[in-house]
Amino acid sequence: MELTAIYPGTFDPITNGHVDLIIRASAIFPRVLVLVAADTKKVPTFTTEERTNMVREAVKSHSEGVQVLPFHGLLVQEVEKHSAQVIIRGLRAVSDFEYESQMALMNKRLDPRVETFFMISREEFAYLSSSFVKEIASLGGDVSTMVPSGVGEMLLSRFGKT
Ligand code: COA
Repeated sequence: MELTAIYPGTFDPITNGHVDLIIRASAIFPRVLVLVAADTKKVPTFTTEERTNMVREAVKSHSEGVQVLPFHGLLVQEVEKHSAQVIIRGLRAVSDFEYESQMALMNKRLDPRVETFFMISREEFAYLSSSFVKEIASLGGDVSTMVPSGVGEMLLSRFGKT
């Protein structure tokens, strides 16, 4: 059986921390599906299509076994639909644990077959978040070491800094 892992997120926008997790996950799982949430509680800066394209572009040189798709609805339904075994989530700091454990338990309650695997973020990305990146970019700060280059350009143009 070929193991499939799903790495879900809003990716508004994808950061180098997310990319690092995708690369590390694809070294373990033969198939990694990166799912970009269309229905999100957050009000995204980028449309679902823009976020999906940004993720595709960011992982294109590590694309073996990696597929990027948008998704609507419940994550557990996607796990079933794609015959995946595992959801992957990144943990940056202890503060992520509460939200992440709640989400993992809730997903398990919705579908007891679903397992969540946690990967610790690399140290240099432990303080990185999409909101910080957007705030810094909107105020004219340099985010070039935090996001893939195409994303940096999109941020600059979205915030009128080009
Ligand atoms: N490196 C850098 N940043 C990271 C990171 C990493 N490795 N891991 C997480 N983050 C940051 C993100 O940048 C983001 O920052 P922000 O809050 O400032 O925007 C934050 O952590 C979390 O973002 P992300 O990883 O994109 O996940 P999310 O919490 O936005 O995604 C879903 C949540 C989409 C997985 C979840 O809402 C979901 O499953 N929705 C579908 C509906 C559903 O099934 N709901 C029931 C859930 S129990």
